[in-house]
Amino acid sequence: IKKIGVFTSGGDSPGMNAAIRSVVRACVYHKIECVGIYRGYQGMIEGDFKPMDARSVNNIINKGGTILKSARCLEFKTAEGRKQAYDNLRKEGIDAFVVIGGDGSFTGAHIFAQEFNFPVMGIPGTIDNDIYGTTFTLGYDTALNTVVEVIDKIRDTASSHNRLFFIEVMGRDVGHIALNVGVGAGAEEILIPEEDLGLDRLLDSLKRSKASGKSSSIVVVAEGDTTGENVFELKKYVEKHLPIYDVRVSVLGHMQRGGAPSCYDRVLASRMGVSAVEALLKGESDKMVGVQDNKMIFTPISKAIKGHTVIDTELIRVSDILTI
Ligand code: F6P
Repeated sequence: IKKIGVFTSGGDSPGMNAAIRSVVRACVYHKIECVGIYRGYQGMIEGDFKPMDARSVNNIINKGGTILKSARCLEFKTAEGRKQAYDNLRKEGIDAFVVIGGDGSFTGAHIFAQEFNFPVMGIPGTIDNDIYGTTFTLGYDTALNTVVEVIDKIRDTASSHNRLFFIEVMGRDVGHIALNVGVGAGAEEILIPEEDLGLDRLLDSLKRSKASGKSSSIVVVAEGDTTGENVFELKKYVEKHLPIYDVRVSVLGHMQRGGAPSCYDRVLASRMGVSAVEALLKGESDKMVGVQDNKMIFTPISKAIKGHTVIDTELIRVSDILTI
């Protein structure tokens, strides 16, 4: 391998820049060339490439977002789109790539690797922490800290006005963010898709909470949870069945994906970037680098995209005990 392409794809996450920096510098260290591919697979299809050297990634380890931009690309799902991308990579002399992204990005990389026998390596970058084969994805830790800080602020105003807040947090299909920030911010209830609390139990819990002397309450809701369809429906339901509460809703949205990466995410990104490049140089391909028990491990991408992450049920129990 002489020239590695690197790109970010799908939803961005804090730490992606630190991972780009790590890939670029690991290439320089091992005396091979590195090319940045803009806007993920879209840029690959359009030939939007830029050679990177050690200095082109100065001062980005601390920056949120991604300097290479990101996109969700439908064209790469077609054989023609992938062939165009392959031709562009060959023309540029790129003979392997590192993709930093989530599930959808890895599916594309896996198909591409099989189709063209092209060496690829994945770095899991998503705030959702929904990728099998790693305890933590890049950006998850930062998102947890961002969200906890915001919930603390909402609690201030909730408490001043004796209000109940439904706070919707990200996590397309999983409740990792909701469960962890719920415990970290001391939420009274946490609604996640992995556990169906049900509307009746939610009402019981809120009643108990009020009866125990609490004047305000925070309920953290994962965006993928279906207990009450969405947070606005939950608000209506509680207002109707439990008028003792003055209810407000807060949907945190994309602010959860921004901001400077935490130290943990910077270190994780640095380790993953070096591991990904070195694995390619050792002849590995079609794998994702992950961290487990504080060790770097590799999982076939086909397994990473099919596997499911498991919610920490012990944490649910801890939350139930502590919100008494
Ligand atoms: O996968 C990361 C994520 O932020 C999810 O939590 C959320 O459901 C989705 O991306 C939002 O995607 P978009 O930015 O395309 O609206």
